[in-house]
Amino acid sequence: MFKTAKISAIAASVILATTMAGAAQADDTLIGSCIYKFDDTFMTGVRINMQKAAEEINAEIELVDSQNRQPTQNDQVDTFITKGVNALIINPVDRSAAGPLVGKAKAADLPIVFINREPDNKVLKDYSKAYYVGAKAEESGTIGGQLIVEYFKAHPEADKNKDGVVQYILIKGEQGHQDATLRSEYCVKAMKEGGLKVEEIGSDNANWDKVQGHDKMKNFITAKGLDAIEAVLCNNDDMALGVIEALKSEGYNTGKDPSKYIPVTGVDATAPALQAIAAGQMLGTSLNDAYNQGTAAVRIADAVAQGKEVNDANIGYTITDGQYVWIPYVKVTAENYQEFMKK
Ligand code: GAL
Repeated sequence: MFKTAKISAIAASVILATTMAGAAQADDTLIGSCIYKFDDTFMTGVRINMQKAAEEINAEIELVDSQNRQPTQNDQVDTFITKGVNALIINPVDRSAAGPLVGKAKAADLPIVFINREPDNKVLKDYSKAYYVGAKAEESGTIGGQLIVEYFKAHPEADKNKDGVVQYILIKGEQGHQDATLRSEYCVKAMKEGGLKVEEIGSDNANWDKVQGHDKMKNFITAKGLDAIEAVLCNNDDMALGVIEALKSEGYNTGKDPSKYIPVTGVDATAPALQAIAAGQMLGTSLNDAYNQGTAAVRIADAVAQGKEVNDANIGYTITDGQYVWIPYVKVTAENYQEFMKK
């Protein structure tokens, strides 16, 4: 009720809204937020945590689904500005389209916080009220590679053809997404740095999606045969869970027969992935911290809207280069998964 009243009051006057944009009063911030698509497991976690973080500081947040279409998102940003929001939090559909969005925010003197898909540094530097909250994809890539190194050190029998080389498959996220590019690069690097000899026998994009992960893995099983596959590294958990479904349908990775197990890694630490780790079906993942990413984004948006300085004390997170907050990834295995179950 409170929310509706506030939105219609603001919508009633664009002139009022424009003057309010830079100078919201305490407890009176309205944040407009676009999520690249609602049907994404990890971003659903971020979205829920943004809502909780807004409630905690008594701010309003309106979240909309950009349905994986950048033109839709551009229109949504225009609508938010017309409506008189005090700040924007944007998860771009296409991170290379962030420039015009910054232009819109700048023209309205609104803070704009990007999340999850990092705009070019030049785009951010162009506007002092533009920020990015995210995680360094290199870290999660490295953790994925390290998980495989540790596994092969503990299980030399996992080198099924005894050739001293790990034959692996790489399941990647979306083409052009920095998380896909960097996680892919750094997981291979970490395997090599950990002393493994590796050979990529297959790699494909599955767009963060469980069904696509499943289908791509089915193709690899048909083309290569299960005996030839010694590890599967995935850029996120949904795709890893799809891979595990494909393996399960062949009697592998059921958590019951250790001789029929191929180590699979993911990224995110979603609830179903933690369950798969607990069940002995998935080797490990890394926590992509939806709680802290969502909370930091909301706090920055609110602070700038309230005319406060964005510093570590006001936000509760370390601000790097004046415009960035980096939330670390954490390695998650069968040893520590319980710690992440309620996050
Ligand atoms: C990644 C995450 C993926 C997906 C993607 C969307 O950080 O690991 O699961 O949510 O962001 O941009």
